[in-house]
Amino acid sequence: MSDVIVTQSGPVLEIRFNRPEKKNALTGEMYDAVESAFKRADGDPGIRVVVLTGTGDAFTSGNDIKDFQARAATEEGIQVSLFLNALSSLTKPLVAAVNGMAVGVGTTMLAHADIVVAVRSARFVMPFTSLGLVPEAASSLLFPLLVGHQRASALLLLGETIDAETAYHWGLVNRLVSDAELMTVAGDYAARLAALPPEAVRQTKALIKNGRRDVSGRIEEELALFRHRLRSAEAAEAFQAFVEKRNPDFSRFS
Ligand code: COA
Repeated sequence: MSDVIVTQSGPVLEIRFNRPEKKNALTGEMYDAVESAFKRADGDPGIRVVVLTGTGDAFTSGNDIKDFQARAATEEGIQVSLFLNALSSLTKPLVAAVNGMAVGVGTTMLAHADIVVAVRSARFVMPFTSLGLVPEAASSLLFPLLVGHQRASALLLLGETIDAETAYHWGLVNRLVSDAELMTVAGDYAARLAALPPEAVRQTKALIKNGRRDVSGRIEEELALFRHRLRSAEAAEAFQAFVEKRNPDFSRFS
């Protein structure tokens, strides 16, 4: 079974992270598959809405940390860049159905979704600094706008985990549901969006996003720093600690 499952049902394209044994950690191939699905949705007039979800008890645990280690040694992570650009420029409405833990890009991608439904057991965390990294997906721009400067700092500087109730009160989530209700409620939102006049929906989405100045510029600015950070000794220590299932030790860094 593929690590990303894409299924079309009428006007709705569902994209499902499907690597539950690794908590849906995202590999380069998975970014490629999701990017292709976004492009397919944009190019196909028969698709009016995209739904994004995950299999199992995690939405996604973020970028695969072993891939981070490999990227630090080899290439530039072009797949992530292409994925983020396709996500931020998607013209069709995106409904995220958050079925559990959303880590790193699992949370940052939600700032690009138009409707977010989450199970009550979902948790949200962006542990970039503790991995020796910096934020991505324009989260350093979008989260202060979405939740305010201090809350964004707790999330992005401290890497605090918030529960679903907090995410709802901070405006990151439209609706909290039980596990059993998740796909029905997400499907209802998708059906309502799909029944509306499609051009009016696309133009309205574009207008709503117009206030976010230079998201693509911020994505590139963050990624330039991110690539540099991936090769840092701080990140190397964080990744190795994860692989060895121990706490990282940053005491030797200045
Ligand atoms: N990259 C690579 N492997 C990952 C992963 C990731 N981001 N997230 C989870 N996994 C793997 C674990 O190593 C484990 O593999 P193993 O069975 O071979 O040991 C498996 O997925 C299950 O994860 P586990 O940690 O046992 O599950 P948990 O329910 O105790 O915890 C998380 C789930 C998501 C809280 C925890 O796995 C975690 O913190 N992962 C790292 C998240 C992260 O830092 N992502 C990068 C963000 S920028």
